[in-house]
Amino acid sequence: APDIPVANVQAHLAQLQTIAGNNGGNRAHGRPGYKASVDWLKGKLDAAGYRTQVQQFSRNGATGYNLIADWPGGDESNVVMAGAHLDSVSAGPGINDNGSGSAGLLEVALTVARNGGTPDKHLRFGWWGAEELGLVGSTHYVNTLSSTDRSRLDAYLNFDMIGSPNPGYFVYSSYRQPAGSQALENLLNEGFRARNVPTEAISIGGRSDHAAFARAGIPIGGTFSGAEVRKTSSQAMKWGGSAGVAFDRCYHRSCDTTSNINTTSLDRHTDVIAHAIYTLSGAN
Ligand code: PHE
Ligand code: CA
Ligand code: ZN
Ligand code: ZN
Ligand code: ZN
Repeated sequence: APDIPVANVQAHLAQLQTIAGNNGGNRAHGRPGYKASVDWLKGKLDAAGYRTQVQQFSRNGATGYNLIADWPGGDESNVVMAGAHLDSVSAGPGINDNGSGSAGLLEVALTVARNGGTPDKHLRFGWWGAEELGLVGSTHYVNTLSSTDRSRLDAYLNFDMIGSPNPGYFVYSSYRQPAGSQALENLLNEGFRARNVPTEAISIGGRSDHAAFARAGIPIGGTFSGAEVRKTSSQAMKWGGSAGVAFDRCYHRSCDTTSNINTTSLDRHTDVIAHAIYTLSGAN
């Protein structure tokens, strides 16, 4: 898999920061900064040759939007899907949570297009609305899939917070997840190991958008650089950074800006996303 240039991911984050700044400081469900984020992302993907769809839903009297992007080709009965939530909380611009996962995934998608990728399996990306209101967009997506389309999903990989300023390198635990999730956990671990980055398994339960896919029996996996929990001294020894300090002190706050990103974490997690997606889909 290609090495994704982190500068490209950072440029996407700067764009999301600008969108928030032009729209009252956030990109939250029901606010203009969310729709502006969707429009910007759709423009990038359309220009790269993706087939995009905007799926609408309604929550708290406001319209929400998921953006689904399919790369044409590949075996449509074996779909590899990866997703990230695009909405922020209303308190701030949501650059680590979850501009980071959204931008990393975007750059991997653009890389597939730029390389004229011809994966064996069909590749699909999803950017979810209203995660912060209770996984609303991703749940709507899974619930509205036909049983045939659901059965065609081989894997769902989720990326929510990958550039935490005091980062960890967590891989979603496959314990009590659908059969097939163990292979995804192994694949993500192997990607970090190839970069000499130690990992920890983390049980994230229902805390992000993989949950609806898991409930539907689809193998899930993901990576995470940590949120409000404090880094322990043994974690600081293996990962560097500050013991006794939250992985992300600006979690759900107005200070979750482009200054709240650790570039090394953003780079490593994004390269591992590419590794996993390329390996699973057979892209070259
Ligand atoms: N889903 C949480 C949020 O958006 C972040 C999170 C992800 C927390 C994964 C724990 C594990 O606020
Ligand atoms: Ca890189
Ligand atoms: Zn959040
Ligand atoms: Zn999040
Ligand atoms: Zn490898």
